[in-house]
Amino acid sequence: MSYDGLVNPGRNDECWCGSGKKYKKCHRDFDERLEDLAARGFELISRDLLKMPEDIAGIKASADVNVGALDYVAAHIGPGVTTEEIDQWVYNYCIEHDAVPADLNYEGFPKSVCTSINEVVCHGIPSPDVVLREGDIVNVDMSTIKNGYFSDSSRMFCIGEVDPEWKRLVDVTYESVQAGLAAVKPWGFLGDVSAAVNKVATDAGFTVVREFGGHGIGFEFHEDPWVGFNEKAGTGYLLVPGMCFTIEPMVNMGAQEIDMNDPNGWTVRTADGLPTAQWEVQIVVTETGYELLSW
Ligand code: MF3
Ligand code: CO
Repeated sequence: MSYDGLVNPGRNDECWCGSGKKYKKCHRDFDERLEDLAARGFELISRDLLKMPEDIAGIKASADVNVGALDYVAAHIGPGVTTEEIDQWVYNYCIEHDAVPADLNYEGFPKSVCTSINEVVCHGIPSPDVVLREGDIVNVDMSTIKNGYFSDSSRMFCIGEVDPEWKRLVDVTYESVQAGLAAVKPWGFLGDVSAAVNKVATDAGFTVVREFGGHGIGFEFHEDPWVGFNEKAGTGYLLVPGMCFTIEPMVNMGAQEIDMNDPNGWTVRTADGLPTAQWEVQIVVTETGYELLSW
């Protein structure tokens, strides 16, 4: 039995990756390396979650829609816009590009996108009653399904002139994601990414939410691995070429604690009511580093 419970093909049988090549000429050496690492106690995700070139092409087509929808939001968002309008923009954008918003009806989520303003950490629900005002900071978190492939990314938008400290929160959170990206190395640790993100945020005097993190993605919305941003370098899953996941820290200006008691069952807020920010990117680990798929 292999480390992940999958049955290895015979030497001359077709490789499991779908290349059509013989196993011995394709992933056999790769699998032996993984077996050896697993035997030495390293954590590895199951091989059936690794994305092959054809999968990556499918995810990219999905991500093109996701990025396009967020670009549309970026071009049109501003004071006076309701979060309901943002929801309609992204819904229409998806449908016009032969895709569907992954959020819509996901575990009962009622809208096509999450719009999280100021002290809302995540999962803000768009509404015609919520009007963006000068000084707000808002995260728009968008996910797309196209041809069965999933993509997911989010951006912060500053509405008009915002308080300089709030702007610093938004910028530091962006920089924390860039630091996380720089730490993505094949055969490195997922914890290296986490620690790099966390250091930028905490060095700036902010805190990083513990309860939510990034996730594997591609065949499903949320797959292994879970990607926390309070982990230590040199720990957690090994980064294997073909792993596809998000980096999406939620960074609080004040205390780390969150409030999950909104009666709507979704909207998460900072416990102290201070603002919070999040950026999300989706990547695939490559032989040499990573490729950015959605942003
Ligand atoms: N897009 C979120 C993520 O980054 C998930 C939102 S689920 C929803 O994982 F149901 F709230 F839309
Ligand atoms: Co995500």
